[in-house]
Amino acid sequence: MCNASVIMTQTLTLRRPDDWHLHLRDGAMLEGILPESARHFARAIVMPNLVPPVVTAAQAAAYRDRILKALPASADFTPLMTLYLTEETDPEDVTAAFANGIAHAVKLYPAGATTNSASGVRDFDRVRPVLEAMAEIGMPLCVHGEVTDPSVDIFDREAVFIDRVLEPLRRAIPGLKVVMEHITTQEGVAYVRSAEAGLGATITTHHLIINRNHILVGGIHPHYYCLPVAKRELHRLALREAATSGDARFFLGTDSAPHADAAKESACGCAGCFTATNTLSILAHVFDEMGRLDRLEGFTSLHGPAFYGLPPNDARITLRKGDPVAYPAKIETGAGPVTVFDPGFPLHWHIE
Ligand code: DOR
Ligand code: ZN
Repeated sequence: MCNASVIMTQTLTLRRPDDWHLHLRDGAMLEGILPESARHFARAIVMPNLVPPVVTAAQAAAYRDRILKALPASADFTPLMTLYLTEETDPEDVTAAFANGIAHAVKLYPAGATTNSASGVRDFDRVRPVLEAMAEIGMPLCVHGEVTDPSVDIFDREAVFIDRVLEPLRRAIPGLKVVMEHITTQEGVAYVRSAEAGLGATITTHHLIINRNHILVGGIHPHYYCLPVAKRELHRLALREAATSGDARFFLGTDSAPHADAAKESACGCAGCFTATNTLSILAHVFDEMGRLDRLEGFTSLHGPAFYGLPPNDARITLRKGDPVAYPAKIETGAGPVTVFDPGFPLHWHIE
């Protein structure tokens, strides 16, 4: 018999999570959206695809200072910086940045693959000395894994990248630690599982929720457009299985990527889903649905630090299941409003 006065409260306590792939931008946008990540996350790997990109250790240190300055006074948040790999990147600058803690990883964008990737890599031979130096010191390479060959269908670009670029690269430099960022396919999941060591993958929140129908059915939905683009349902299911499997090679990187609404709702809209605000409530929903709440902490708070060789956070957060969570539809910033990712269903997990 249903007794309305008996309301099951479910709570879950986790080590404070980290976001292993985050776009914070700069200036007014940075100021507007940074509190959304700092509220729940202790640390984040910060992407370097600014204009101009963050290439050198000095640029990363200056960007880190701007982020720290933009933080709300009460925040406890540490940005972990990355360097944008170009064909001119100096191996000595990279190794020094890693040694003195200025940079935790290097980001590889194939030139032209995504937002602000024009300065990325065209000829992989030209970055080999940097990659070899990184392998020697154990510095991770974060990879945007999509080919840019115009003859390759956009839905196949991740799978083709694995065969054409990633596998040959990992064979050529066997000691290199690689993170396949924001994997979107069952091929990506399988490739990570097939690797013996030194390969991890981040999975975003939104790729656990949407498939390509969300972008295209019933009109074009620009706030679901991101890169790599969401794929077929079978791929989404493979990602959900991987994220909730407990396999430490998979960890959270939200790829929360703010663009002002005017830049998204346009004839040529920018790629990026902004999930910082409701990511943890969505993830709890997914793990709950999969009957795997016990594995949420691994995905959000343990596997990432282990891969990066950092201790997990000591602080804890508590999640409580209850009435629908209220969160803003948009974050107002000095650079314009930013629409918060809409999972399409009410969220019930509150972060206390
Ligand atoms: O959707 C995306 N947005 N994918 C990326 O790779 C870049 C990001 C951005 O910077 O907006
Ligand atoms: Zn990204």
